[in-house]
Amino acid sequence: MGLHRLTSVTIGVPNLEATIAYYADFGLTHHGDGRLSTVDGGQQLQLVRTPTRRLVGLGIAVDDRDDLDRIALQLGRLDLPVTRDADTLVTEEPIAGFRAQITVSPRLRQPALAAPAYNGPGRIDRPDVRAAGVLREGRVRPLKLGHVVIGSTDQQATQRFFTDGIGFKISDTVPSIASFMRCSTDHHNVLVQQAPMNFLHHTSWQVQDIDDIGRGATAMLEDNPDRHVWGLGRHHVGSNFFWYLKDPAGNFSEYYSDLDCIVDDELWKPGVWEGLRGLYNWGPPPPPSFLLPDDVAAMMTGAHSASQPIRTGGSASRRGRGRAHRGEARRNDDRSSRRPRIRTGWGPWSRRGRRRRPRRVRPGRRRGRRPCRGSRSGRARAASPRAGPASCRCS
Ligand SMILES: [Fe+2]
Repeated sequence: MGLHRLTSVTIGVPNLEATIAYYADFGLTHHGDGRLSTVDGGQQLQLVRTPTRRLVGLGIAVDDRDDLDRIALQLGRLDLPVTRDADTLVTEEPIAGFRAQITVSPRLRQPALAAPAYNGPGRIDRPDVRAAGVLREGRVRPLKLGHVVIGSTDQQATQRFFTDGIGFKISDTVPSIASFMRCSTDHHNVLVQQAPMNFLHHTSWQVQDIDDIGRGATAMLEDNPDRHVWGLGRHHVGSNFFWYLKDPAGNFSEYYSDLDCIVDDELWKPGVWEGLRGLYNWGPPPPPSFLLPDDVAAMMTGAHSASQPIRTGGSASRRGRGRAHRGEARRNDDRSSRRPRIRTGWGPWSRRGRRRRPRRVRPGRRRGRRPCRGSRSGRARAASPRAGPASCRCS
């Protein structure tokens, strides 16, 4: 029958206890040994200790053993190693090096929650009562793992691993940068984006609706405003509401709701998205540290430790260089910070859409000023009808 869901994600972090505490705050239930569960999806997060943060493994569910046979063949065509027993196949992604475990598992049957009633123009769907969203109390608890976003130094190869190797389908594409891929009816379960190093960008966790995104993020930020990354907003690709937060190891975690669902492949038309549309529809502008997390440059040099912010002393620091790990509490409107010149490929910081610096104008060439007649170029320009009034400063 085929692939039908993500079962779990395994994340390696250097600060295991603090990260477990974070995801317990986030609303997952800790069962000991770094194993955490969602309400509907069961044990879907495994945290393990590693020297630096990284994606260690991804679990994917299929319906039957024929699916495993087919995936083994496909991976063989890519020359990728496979370990197989009756109901499980394990392989390794060739670029980022994480383990993918594909297991014969039952489909996830989520209980259908009643849609909240909203009043609208000419429509009173909630007469005489307050909104359900303002009456909820208690901690928000994610219902399931939705998707994982991976930075890869070879986006095409990692994407091929998922599509040609395992059988993911492409839902939408941002050319040369990323593809949104699904192994279920969710619009995307994996997104691989081109990056200067291999790293885990974020995991995303489904909550009931936009109220629970707001309630969850508000609770997370109450005593820890530094956890804020980006939100509240709505993505254009996938349509989901979002709010991104950051765990103590530097991984982003997203609350999401109302993601597009693709039930009939024939009815969905994959789109190609350029620029900011690939990122969001509305909300505050994404901070640069969302596009490329602050610790990535430090990890590239092997200098990163989650509990010890990178310090660059001496003149380099004074000049503002090497500030890759500072400013974890930067807000959405902070675009002024100096960051390593690494191309992310997204939005106004992308290769295509990157903002150009104003061109340096040499004296005597400013608009509205006639250049000196003493020089050849000045004489030539003086003959031009577009030359401005004389204001030579040569003498
Ligand atoms: Fe996401």
